[in-house]
Amino acid sequence: MHIDQASIAELQAALAKYQQQHQQLVARKLNLDLTRGKPSTEQLNLSDKMQSILVGEHTDPNGVDLRNYGGIDGIASAKNLFGEILGLAEEDRSTRVLVGGNSSLSLMHYTLWFAYYLGLKPGDTSWAQQEKNNNSITRFICPCPGYDRHFSLCSQLGIEMIPVSLTGHGPDMDEVESLIKADPSIKGIWCVPRFSNPTGEVYSDETVTRIAKLGKMAGDNFFVLWDNAYAVHTLNNDAQSLASIDKIAKSLGTLDSIIQFGSTSKITFASAGIGYMASSEANIKGFIQHFGKASIGPDKSNQMRHVKLLKDLANVQQHMAKHAKIITPKFAAVKKSLEENIGGTGMGDWNNPNGGYFVSFNTRPGLAKKVISLAAEAGVKLTPAGATYPEGNDPQDTNIRIAPTYPELDDVEAAMAVLVNCVLLASIEQKLVSQTNNQVSVDLTNCT
Ligand SMILES: Cc1ncc(COP(=O)(O)O)c(C=O)c1O
Repeated sequence: MHIDQASIAELQAALAKYQQQHQQLVARKLNLDLTRGKPSTEQLNLSDKMQSILVGEHTDPNGVDLRNYGGIDGIASAKNLFGEILGLAEEDRSTRVLVGGNSSLSLMHYTLWFAYYLGLKPGDTSWAQQEKNNNSITRFICPCPGYDRHFSLCSQLGIEMIPVSLTGHGPDMDEVESLIKADPSIKGIWCVPRFSNPTGEVYSDETVTRIAKLGKMAGDNFFVLWDNAYAVHTLNNDAQSLASIDKIAKSLGTLDSIIQFGSTSKITFASAGIGYMASSEANIKGFIQHFGKASIGPDKSNQMRHVKLLKDLANVQQHMAKHAKIITPKFAAVKKSLEENIGGTGMGDWNNPNGGYFVSFNTRPGLAKKVISLAAEAGVKLTPAGATYPEGNDPQDTNIRIAPTYPELDDVEAAMAVLVNCVLLASIEQKLVSQTNNQVSVDLTNCT
């Protein structure tokens, strides 16, 4: 049944059926969680041998004592490994990569704070000072739907967020370029370029090149925050590759405007992985100067454990294939449930990602909050409606982020059965209300 072609009687019969199914699901008192993109226990187990991989070893290949203070930018072998993942040429990895502690989000947080209050590299005017000088505020472009924690970082500093839509191969670059050309108070853009959170899209080569050029048209101290969190997280052989923004920016002379981030949170252990970043040599030096006030050095033993387990990009890709084997059936279960229940009904659309951690589902306008609250009633937790937009404000109230990696396959299936029923119920209820309102207004028109 397509919702826009059904008669009122058909809609009423369908509503009764889905309401009854909803009550049966509520009675099951489920307790399922599709909220955050976390690796499952089985995925974490893949890296267990890392726990004992260093027994008796205290030094890195350069003789650095892993147990002692120092080495704020990380050990050389870790910079080489993560620089390779971020697409840097080998000769650039020792000077343009910083390998830190367990979280790339912290590195992003520090970057924003340094740029906002201090200026990232020597000679940069801080954004706060620019606000005073120009009597303006700092603005950021936020491709949407996007990662809620990026938006929280901006929100915390009072940075105004400008949503820009995603096209399926990256942000709408015509809009991004015209915004940046017109407004020097735009100081950055968030990008999750491969298997974007939550849309799963991969930025096209043309998009990457246009983004690498933004530094030439933007105001002072503009940064592309290139969060390549899912750089190697492919689910299948159809996964699109991503051009190296580092190589393109290097050839264009715009490296100062590109800051890349990544981590092994979803490669090894989410709480004990390694976060890393890469940029121009000057930016990395500036970051180190500021960051050196907050820390005397990272956990180098954990960096060495990662180097020993992961070795190089080719080996990381093999390791990620094992992750894919575990989570592909869960993504397939989501796809099957959506296709079988919502496909062809006009009640929603979604992406089928070739990598990453999420499926992005769009309800008919005005229904995401309703669907999420119905699902909660039936014991299925979903990421709050609006979370994928700045300040939690999804203007159309349509986007729902589905995170299927953590629960067991049976639980993903059970949660999807609830979700699709809530989508059907809410969509038909909304349609009937609008049909009934139309009829009332037609009746009233006839009366006058
Ligand atoms: C796009 C993106 N960036 C960063 C993170 C968090 O990274 P980390 O664990 O390295 O702090 C996540 C986690 O879900 C993410 O989706």
